[in-house]
Amino acid sequence: MSSNIGVMGHPIGHTKSPVFQQAGLDELGIAETFEAWDVAPDELEEKVTTFRATGFLAACVTLPHKQAVIPLVDELTEAAEAVGAVNWIFNRDGKLVGHNTDGTGFLRALKEKTGFDPAGVDAVVFGAGGAARAIVYALKLAGIARLTIANRTVGKAQALASEFSEGRFKPDAIGLSRDELANCAPYAQLLVNTTSLGMAGGPAEMATPILADMISADALGYDAVYAPPMTKFLREVENAGATSAGGMTMLVYQGIEGFEMATGQKAPVDTMFAAIEKAFKSG
Ligand code: ATR
Repeated sequence: MSSNIGVMGHPIGHTKSPVFQQAGLDELGIAETFEAWDVAPDELEEKVTTFRATGFLAACVTLPHKQAVIPLVDELTEAAEAVGAVNWIFNRDGKLVGHNTDGTGFLRALKEKTGFDPAGVDAVVFGAGGAARAIVYALKLAGIARLTIANRTVGKAQALASEFSEGRFKPDAIGLSRDELANCAPYAQLLVNTTSLGMAGGPAEMATPILADMISADALGYDAVYAPPMTKFLREVENAGATSAGGMTMLVYQGIEGFEMATGQKAPVDTMFAAIEKAFKSG
């Protein structure tokens, strides 16, 4: 029998979500098993149908399904509409609501774990893919003053910038060359890497979008990459004397918002963090 809560993706073997979600469910005495479902693209529609069953709570959605599930749900929240992706599906009496907590999870991670308030600051976001969309949405929501989106493919940065432009909020779009970064990065109080540069097992594990000499010592450098915990980008941030923060906090807080919406209860945040920290330590 399948459980009433879990995460679906393809492949799914690497997911850390069950570790901290289960710790949260156990702490609150909720008798559910948080499962990991490997769902291939051609099985997606059938799997989503099962989420309508009585008693089913929620599914966390990860790659490659975050956009493909959009036409399969009945309703999207404002966040899911704005980000253009769904990372949680909730069953509300047989009606499926698609939501996105990646951006708000990022904001909560900044606030709770670093004390950083993005309101009124200058920021640079590296990358223009799915993670960048969620973060640009979040920074706009948080009332950032000025944003530059820096991406290898400038056209993608431009498209993202114009999509989120509204009123006085008009992100700049640039490439990753030192000349282009020199005009914005040294003045930014927040630098966020959303590219796959630095990702363990990826093609560019030893790469970084920026070097220490262009980072202000007053800045916060956040890496959406969480494995390894100390990326090359974060080392550059530390070499600049700035504050670094890895992406594990965003991963957990996107899950915490999903947990709270699924269960209707406040998540035991410390227990959930302790569980994932233990899992990372033991590999
Ligand atoms: P995600 O959903 O995790 O954001 P994605 O949509 O595949 O993943 O986006 C990956 C991001 O990493 C993109 O911004 C990509 O840049 P391009 O738009 O130019 O492809 C960036 N990226 C990946 N490999 C890169 C590399 N070797 N150098 C610079 N940027 C890279």
